[in-house]
Amino acid sequence: MNTPAPLLDVEGRPEVVETIDSLREKLRGRTIALVPTMGALHQGHLALIDRARELAGTVVVSIFVNPLQFGPDEDLEEYPRDLSADLEALSQHGVAFVFAPTVAEMYPDGVTQVKVTGGEVGELFEGRSRPGHFDGVLTVVAKLLGIARPDFVLFGQKDAQQVFLVQRMVADLNFATRVEVVETVRADDGLALSSRNRYLNAEERHAAAAISRALEAAASAADRGIDSVLAAAQAVFMDERLVRLEYLKVVNPRTFLPVDDGYRGPARVLIAAQVGAARLIDNDAIYLN
Ligand code: PAJ
Repeated sequence: MNTPAPLLDVEGRPEVVETIDSLREKLRGRTIALVPTMGALHQGHLALIDRARELAGTVVVSIFVNPLQFGPDEDLEEYPRDLSADLEALSQHGVAFVFAPTVAEMYPDGVTQVKVTGGEVGELFEGRSRPGHFDGVLTVVAKLLGIARPDFVLFGQKDAQQVFLVQRMVADLNFATRVEVVETVRADDGLALSSRNRYLNAEERHAAAAISRALEAAASAADRGIDSVLAAAQAVFMDERLVRLEYLKVVNPRTFLPVDDGYRGPARVLIAAQVGAARLIDNDAIYLN
């Protein structure tokens, strides 16, 4: 009698794979859920991974700090890189493979000739603050989809504009994968978990909770209309001298464009703020009626 194959590949540590050819080889014939990350893994990433396990027999986590999505004055050099800490965080989470390529493996010619761009939406909000950011994100995600050819690919709602653009890329370019979105994981005081939170000192960390309080204030004002939503959120930042609001916007989730006056229906509030050395973003769904 044959012993049935185990449902999950591993209960211990994932196998680290550094080259594209070797990953393709190992993934052949499996049902795959891919979780793209830049490492510095936290509970937000783990929520994606735990969901991935429910979807597919083989979970692959990519860890790659993608230079293409960082602007010249951004934190590419400082971005935390600690593969052994990441592997430790992943142990017991049922991850079969960690794909951790070098920059030269992903970009053998320095940069790619061809890029994926996010069009109009790619130039708003995060794209306005970080020119070229979404070209970098979409291009690396397209490459990862081409490399791993996953049945499922998982993203966090915390990066709402990234989710929107990846969904549009997969639909517009007919990638054969299903995009699964996981809710934002937060600390007890509401701050969305982020690899960049580790740039905050204690005082800044405390102040950063204003971002999620502003989203709550926005949601509570939703039945009084868009102006009240914006005013309620803005008021939260008045007394927070350590939080510098960069933008506060309300978008239509179907188009990701700012809602018109008088719009009724589901909407999403987007916030970006600078707190100390950390540039933080967050968002939440509201219903305008
Ligand atoms: P990174 O910031 O490492 O995030 C990897 C994934 O984890 C993203 O889908 C992100 O939305 C999700 N995530 C981060 N914080 C989260 C939280 N608190 N709750 C739920 N999900 C969270 O986003 C990127 O990397 C890169 O742009 C990438 C997609 C890997 C392309 O380079």
